[in-house]
Order: sequence, then structure tokens, then C-alpha cells
Amino acid sequence: MSERIRVLLSEEEVDRRIQEIGEQISRDYEGKQVHLVCVLKGGSFFLCELAKRITVPVSLDFMSVSSYGSETKSSGVVRIVKDLDEPLKGKDVIVVEDIVDSGRTLSYLLEMLRDRGPKSLRLCTLLDKPERRVTDVRVDYTGFRIPDEFVVGYGLDYDQRYRNLPYIGVVEFD
Ligand code: IMP
Ligand code: MG
Repeated sequence: MSERIRVLLSEEEVDRRIQEIGEQISRDYEGKQVHLVCVLKGGSFFLCELAKRITVPVSLDFMSVSSYGSETKSSGVVRIVKDLDEPLKGKDVIVVEDIVDSGRTLSYLLEMLRDRGPKSLRLCTLLDKPERRVTDVRVDYTGFRIPDEFVVGYGLDYDQRYRNLPYIGVVEFD
């Protein structure tokens, strides 16, 4: 079985949209410092591009979680593989994610982070597949709403590959 990647969102489209989100966040957080929390590994490409386009002071932290489940479907039970280095207490936090799919991982994660007492907590995702949602997750900043297809690129993987694609593509098998 061989795979092909069909371009869904070009590099230019993605970059343009990240610029817009960066400007929006810069306006919304004027006079404040924003603390970006990146969920590894998928969120890392988006985080870097986004952070470069935010004009208010930015600090960064990283965490890695693994959700028990199959490769293409998450169970929502989340284990922290790498925790944040810094406490969130009193910070204006934005969680930066690659994609919100069922929403299980995020709803668990956001609840856990909220317990750490940030001053505010928002969610920013590059991609959203609203059709797939099974839990209520409030997304504050969304790059693109996409149909229910398995996508790769810009941090997203299929079996750990394709994260480095500078665009978003759909994996097709023939
Ligand atoms: P959720 O808990 O179902 O929202 O799962 C979210 C996680 O599943 C994401 O952070 C991704 O790691 C992974 N995921 C969901 N959809 C896709 C996709 O289309 N391509 C690659 N990974 C995906
Ligand atoms: Mg992810």
C-alpha cells in the first residue's frame, strides 16, 4: 500500500492565517505578558510560527502528554510524559495545539491546567475538526475548521512521519 499527500491548506494559506491569529492575540493581550504552553510534539511548529508574530511579551513552556488509544483515535485518558517547567499561577496562559479532534485530550488537559491557578486560560489550535467532537471544548483561537479527514504536516504526523511538511495535507492510500 502506498501513500500520497493531497494538499489541503498551502504553506501560504497557513502562514497568512497564523499572522492573523498572532495579530489578534497581540491586540487581545495588549499590556500583558502571554505565556504560551505548547503541547508536544504536534503543537511545536505552530507554536514557533505563532510566537514570532506576537508583539506583546511572550514566555514559553512545553509539555508532552500521551493519550492511551490507537494511532488515529485517542481515548482521552492522558498521561503526562513531560510536565511544564514553570508554575502557571497568576499567568495569562494560552495552550497551543495542533488539532482538536474528539476534544478528549484537550478537555482533560485544560481541566488539569486550570487547577494550577492561571490568571486566565485560553486555547489556540491550528486546526479544528468540529464534526468529530465528543466533549465540549471551548476553542478561543482557531486557524482552520477542516472536514473529518486525517491530516498531516505542520507538526501533525502519521506514524511519526510528515510533521515537517510546511503545509497541511491529507493522507491518501492507493
Ligand atoms: P482528541 O483528543 O481526539 O482531540 O485528539 C487530539 C490528538 O489526536 C491531536 O493532538 C493529534 O495528536 C491527534 N490527531 C487527531 N486528528 C489528527 C489528524 O487528522 N492527524 C494527525 N493527528 C491527529
Ligand atoms: Mg496534539
